[in-house]
Amino acid sequence: AKTVHKQWDISYQFTHSDCVRKLAVTINGRTPGPTIRAVQGDTVVVTVKNLLMTENVAIHWHGIRQLGTPWADGTEGVTQCPILPGDAFEYRFVVDRPGTYMYHAHYGMQRSAGLNGMIVVAAAPGSADAEPFAYDGGEHEVLLNDWWHKSTYEQAAGLAAVPIVWVGEPQSLLINGRGRYNCSAMAPDAACNATHPECAAQVFAVVPGRTYRFRIASVTSLSALNFEIEGHEMTVVETDGHYVKPFVVKNLNIYSGETYSVLIKADQDPNRNYWLASNVVSRKPGTPTGTAVLSYYGGRSSPRAPPPTAPPAGPAWNDSAYRIRQSLATVAHPEHAHPPPPRADRTILLLNSQNKIDGRIKWAINNVSFTLPHTPYLVALKHGLLGAFDQCPPPETYNHTGYDVYGVQANPNATTSDGLYRLAFGSVVDVVLQNANMLAPNNSETHPWHLHGHDFWTLGYGVGRFDPAVHPATYNLRDPVMKNTVAVHPFGWTALRFRADNPGVWAFHCHIEAHFFMGMGVAFEEGIERVGDLPEEIRRCVSTKGGHH
Ligand code: C2O
Ligand code: CU
Repeated sequence: AKTVHKQWDISYQFTHSDCVRKLAVTINGRTPGPTIRAVQGDTVVVTVKNLLMTENVAIHWHGIRQLGTPWADGTEGVTQCPILPGDAFEYRFVVDRPGTYMYHAHYGMQRSAGLNGMIVVAAAPGSADAEPFAYDGGEHEVLLNDWWHKSTYEQAAGLAAVPIVWVGEPQSLLINGRGRYNCSAMAPDAACNATHPECAAQVFAVVPGRTYRFRIASVTSLSALNFEIEGHEMTVVETDGHYVKPFVVKNLNIYSGETYSVLIKADQDPNRNYWLASNVVSRKPGTPTGTAVLSYYGGRSSPRAPPPTAPPAGPAWNDSAYRIRQSLATVAHPEHAHPPPPRADRTILLLNSQNKIDGRIKWAINNVSFTLPHTPYLVALKHGLLGAFDQCPPPETYNHTGYDVYGVQANPNATTSDGLYRLAFGSVVDVVLQNANMLAPNNSETHPWHLHGHDFWTLGYGVGRFDPAVHPATYNLRDPVMKNTVAVHPFGWTALRFRADNPGVWAFHCHIEAHFFMGMGVAFEEGIERVGDLPEEIRRCVSTKGGHH
């Protein structure tokens, strides 16, 4: 195994991701940042220098479990103090499993400002984790994102205002950081340049007859997406670093925080180009299709020529049954299935609801809206700083016998807390995420939940209210796929299981940036006594006299 070194300068730059000039948080001047490529077992060392001048930063390595290095998870408030302007911080961790992952800022809503990229880990030669599939054409990477012209500060201020100013639908959908806003829709003096090289569509070239692996990641701030390669069926083979029993789709639903690998065969007419398209699903779309181009080597079409057709429009945005079917079709590859433990030691039922606190709209879990402590949990717990956060643990369940998930809550008022769940080390934990109606009637949206530090088994999905006496009997205990991010569908529930065997403190939250900002998350502690000495650099925001706010 080798060590992969990276030196990253984080700074604001004027960028033109969708042809419109926008101040973005960049890595070495670029958004998205470079793909980190490594081999299973390698150590990745990223030295991050914060050149933002007036803004903190922290970077999370999404999907990397950080076994033995919980302080390198990059989650501000949970595993580290933020990196202050002018400071440098070294992230050092091992990538122990092959697969497709991502990284992004994990401080406030900074991810939306452009700090994101992909991590690709190849299987070590001869490893038991080698791919159970073959492709002779090579690999392409597809990073999907959504993009707003307003700054994240403007968004955050709006979300905290009374009445709320919602972030709204994104202006553009990006593929590998490239989108195309319609400049003629803007004021003539607006900084929109339709021919700016940064917003020229990405071209993916293929050799006729070959099979390609596309690694696809979604780092969107809000949008659930549907991805399609015009005229080419996709065989889904990997998700979140785990091999799946291959299945064929015309288009792929992908939620923020998820990754997939698909295989495509370049077997269509090579003399024309084809669209890669990303479309919003699960929210009524207010954003044009995001596009890139697939082009055949040796064909008669110029690689940059737009395809002769209209880009695919994707499935009906509100067809949640269609999306649930894909969730259910995603199961473990038979030769790579790790069956889950047959039963859980503890079951936590988490109601996801929209609430109000002092007239402000929030998201809450069992009526508790999550806030991050000023002193990171990892530091507070390791050093016994009990005043650093609410010592009262959040509720284990909600009124699941009486709650109407299709109705508007009788009393939507919630409380705020930075308390956390403490899990017995090595125990098996089931979490059932229950979706419900929002503050407005007949409204429920998809929430992609991401667990740091672990992969979990996806045991089941259902629509309506989860019944602990009935539904566990329907769980897939035979071949559930392991993932780190999973969708909770509208008005539905999702059940997952994991082993609390990674000493540290780990965030578990909705991957929609605005939802986490509004309180949609929790934190888990396990095995804190097994965590080694913390690096000094993660505790620079903690006073030596104690952990008070
Ligand atoms: Cu990709 Cu806590 O996030
Ligand atoms: Cu959400």
